[in-house]
Amino acid sequence: MNIKLTQSLPKTHTQKILKKEAKSKDAACLVVLIDDQKNILAESVLSDYQTRIEQLIEVSHFNGKACETVADYALAGDKKTTKENPVQLLLVGVGNLDKLRHSVLEKVANTIYKSTQKRVDSITVVLGDILEENQFGQFALSLLAASYRFDKYKSEQQTSVLTDIYLLAEPSLEDSLNFAQAVFTGQSLTRDVANEPGNICFPAYMAEQAQELAATYPDLLKVTVLGEKEMSALGMNCFLSVAQGSTKEGKLVLMEYRGKSNFSVNADADTSKATTNSAKVAGGLKALADKLPTKAASKKAAKNAKQDSNDDVQVANDDSPIVLVGKGVTFDSGGISIKPGAAMDEMKFDMGGSAAVLGTIKALCEARLPINVVGALACAENMPSGDATRPGDIIIAMNGKSVEILNTDAEGRLVLCDTLCYVQKYYQPKAIIDVATLTGACVVALGHVRSAVFSNDEDVLFDLENASHLSGDLIWHMPMDDEYQAQIDSPIADIQNIGGKGAGAVTAACFLSRFIEEGQAWAHLDIAGTAWISGQDKAATGRPVPLFMQYLRNSANMA
Ligand code: BES
Ligand code: MN
Ligand code: ZN
Repeated sequence: MNIKLTQSLPKTHTQKILKKEAKSKDAACLVVLIDDQKNILAESVLSDYQTRIEQLIEVSHFNGKACETVADYALAGDKKTTKENPVQLLLVGVGNLDKLRHSVLEKVANTIYKSTQKRVDSITVVLGDILEENQFGQFALSLLAASYRFDKYKSEQQTSVLTDIYLLAEPSLEDSLNFAQAVFTGQSLTRDVANEPGNICFPAYMAEQAQELAATYPDLLKVTVLGEKEMSALGMNCFLSVAQGSTKEGKLVLMEYRGKSNFSVNADADTSKATTNSAKVAGGLKALADKLPTKAASKKAAKNAKQDSNDDVQVANDDSPIVLVGKGVTFDSGGISIKPGAAMDEMKFDMGGSAAVLGTIKALCEARLPINVVGALACAENMPSGDATRPGDIIIAMNGKSVEILNTDAEGRLVLCDTLCYVQKYYQPKAIIDVATLTGACVVALGHVRSAVFSNDEDVLFDLENASHLSGDLIWHMPMDDEYQAQIDSPIADIQNIGGKGAGAVTAACFLSRFIEEGQAWAHLDIAGTAWISGQDKAATGRPVPLFMQYLRNSANMA
């Protein structure tokens, strides 16, 4: 789908701007928005069409409710009104102009796409100056996203003829439009990967997707994949306890996006060899890790010392990355604590967090934002077998804490906790944001509208909420009071992996918080209700890629 800004109304057959041999479907459609007061929006640019539009409103009793439509196909016989401008006309209601929030813009965009995709090859949507910049971005992204299909497994694919979308709007919106296109590209990858079934998309598939991206953007992106041997040498036993029931090997995929110079990674030299010489490298990583200062020490050092690039040990600085960590459970059967059968197929979407991180990295490469970002995909399949982890097993995590596994279906926090330890040890994250389809309890709390956000840092929280507002990819701040922590104290280990009845989304966040070092800015997003649409029309949404990209764009601007 091509999308461009334009300053002119569509040309017609008679003006011969369409392909020389016009097919019957070679046609343009002018899309005009009408509010619930029957105002023609951006009327001033539409004077040539005014009479025709007014007549259409009148004869169709159109009243401008959101997503109401009426079309005038400019039939040859309809000479009276179409002689002067024989372009097709589609009126679309937007409702109350003061209430054009994201969900309305998205519905309007879907309506426009559905009403025109099979009829015309180009549309011009007349926006004038009715949308603010962020609304414009939301609308452009929604139009593009409406064209997304996942029908590769259908013998017959739906056809649509629409290829070009023109937005008649102010030229100053060019940057916003380009940004929306970058977000769309990344979000589509997220949806593609998440929509794949578990027999295709397993941990190695996720790693391949990341490596393909690195091959496409070699100047911006470096990808390293750790397998089970490397993770074992690093002591990532919680992660491994999830993967061990499956015949598919667990993978930790590290994606280093360098949009800014001076990207420093402690594990850099070592992890790059990981795929070729695994055991030795993991040992090397561990040896290097043992030499590293503690978090507190490095924070202090960052204040006192000017950074010397020749130093073995790097400390957090302005070029330190924001680290995104994604839950990548490519299929969640529940393990020995097996899930009931109903809708278990939808647990193929349990890698939605990782898919969102992957898509965000792709969008970053497209937008070339001047910022450093690390994406860590924690990929494993959760299966029952004779080798699977049992309820009651006690596992030592990478940071040395002991975890009593009371329910093998609370596996997301287990792959995440070791990954959180890993990224804190080898990168000096400015902030860590993990994203996971973590709890059914989150769906109970917030449904499918907002993702949950938990954080230990006011600035990160503020920035995420701001990005939520600007992008329309909504989140809601949830509590994480210390008082909830008691629910995950184990009688025989440091922590247990479930918190019993009540506040399931909160206790899952509390579990993760036990692996965040003092002073490390961190947020956790639970996207269990927002990563995909359930039921007959099940499909990945690509959330929260728009949220992440808005957040990163703002961060890049602030730096
Ligand atoms: N992937 C699920 C969470 C989930 C469930 C997401 C339904 C979306 C829809 C997660 O691994 C899980 O099974 N969580 C358990 C935790 C419980 C055992 C404490 C849950 O929510 O039931
Ligand atoms: Mn589970
Ligand atoms: Zn899960």
